Amino acid sequence: MSAEVIAVAGGQWGDEGKGKVVDQLAQGATVVVRAQGGDNAGHTVVNGKGMFALNLIPAGIFNPKTINILGQGTVVNAAGLIREMAALHERGISTSNLRISPKAHLVFEYHQLEDGHEENSKGAQAIGTTKRGIGPAYADKANRVGIRAEDLADPEECLGKIARVLKNKRGYHPDLANSPQFDPGYYENLLGEAQHVLTPLVMETSEFLYRHITGSNGRVLIEGAQGTLLSVDDGTYPMVTSSNTTINGLLAGAGIGARWLTQAIGVFKAYQTRVGGGPMPTERFDEGADRLRKSAHEFGVVSGRPRRLGWFDGVAAGQSQYVNGFTDIVITRLDNLSCMGDLMVCNSYILDGKEIHHIPSNLRDFERCQAAYGNEDCYPGWNEDLAGITDLNDLPEKARKYVLGIVATIPDARLMAIGNGQRREDLVFA
Ligand code: IMP
Ligand code: MG
Repeated sequence: MSAEVIAVAGGQWGDEGKGKVVDQLAQGATVVVRAQGGDNAGHTVVNGKGMFALNLIPAGIFNPKTINILGQGTVVNAAGLIREMAALHERGISTSNLRISPKAHLVFEYHQLEDGHEENSKGAQAIGTTKRGIGPAYADKANRVGIRAEDLADPEECLGKIARVLKNKRGYHPDLANSPQFDPGYYENLLGEAQHVLTPLVMETSEFLYRHITGSNGRVLIEGAQGTLLSVDDGTYPMVTSSNTTINGLLAGAGIGARWLTQAIGVFKAYQTRVGGGPMPTERFDEGADRLRKSAHEFGVVSGRPRRLGWFDGVAAGQSQYVNGFTDIVITRLDNLSCMGDLMVCNSYILDGKEIHHIPSNLRDFERCQAAYGNEDCYPGWNEDLAGITDLNDLPEKARKYVLGIVATIPDARLMAIGNGQRREDLVFA
């Protein structure tokens, strides 16, 4: 007897629609774990209870029988989590099925201040972060001065730790030293509230997960945030987030051994988007891209920024598969491409006259890559509405050909489902 362990990671630059896939799979899940990232993520979930934009809380929260864990690899904004819980309570959703790993690191407003400061100092090289303090919180973790969820149990001791951290930070950042957020007293009320609201949810998760996986027939779902190309290890560094967003990163962030993984699902949007800076070889600037952005509402859930839009990048998708080893893929938002004219899929880059099939590690080289499109990479568009289709065989022929063109760029994985609408049930399984 052992539980299924399914990890779901984004294959592109985030916003692939993982929230919906996880929400759907969470129906049968006994445990859902958020493994990395923080409230830089924004997952939109549409279900029978309405539309929800979740930042930290795992998508399994709507199922009262599912345990939802913020894993050791996450960075949790304590104030933000309390607000997010309250917003769910107001709409009648209980969070008594939420748990927090004691090892999860906390994000405070001083991290957000540092994030903004670091970005401003970069000028034109700014990453375009969400300014949620994610990078500085992971930096503190690696620097061994992070505050963890377990520290909330003793507000006084926690405040002492924060005071020591801030003393050094005032030295590193003289121009921020006088900000109220750099004064430990700023956090006193928050720590009191967090002890009250969050400490009861802090639970040792490694033994729980091990016993659950080895001793039940349940289903553990590990929910990724951001996407592979934003991974600090595998992505387009330095224009990345500060956690490892791949399947490998998810296992580490959940604290689950690799041998238990039964399925590695990669979620890919049927076209390409990116929020923030950094190269994007298939980016489009035409009127069609504006039309798609508006009709598909491609604006950031967290930042409200318009997302950059492009043709499906098969080189980036291949790169993603090199480092993830997805067993299954889900292609989302195919419905958004109805009535959008002919479509291109990029199958190689040209760098210095040579054809390549990977993303160069060096950002300067990546910036110089040009997306190449052969005649066979142009797919005739379709005008049929895909809503309501429940069988992949019922896709219009042109849409089916396009999907096969995308799937061919992701070797060794099987097509598991396509997304054809916003609702939970708008997912057609193969
Ligand atoms: P950070 O994660 O706020 O440090 O931002 C680093 C980069 O990741 C920026 O380009 C952000 O726009 C991007 N990013 C962070 N979280 C998300 C997400 O959930 N979806 C899409 N992009 C994200
Ligand atoms: Mg998002």
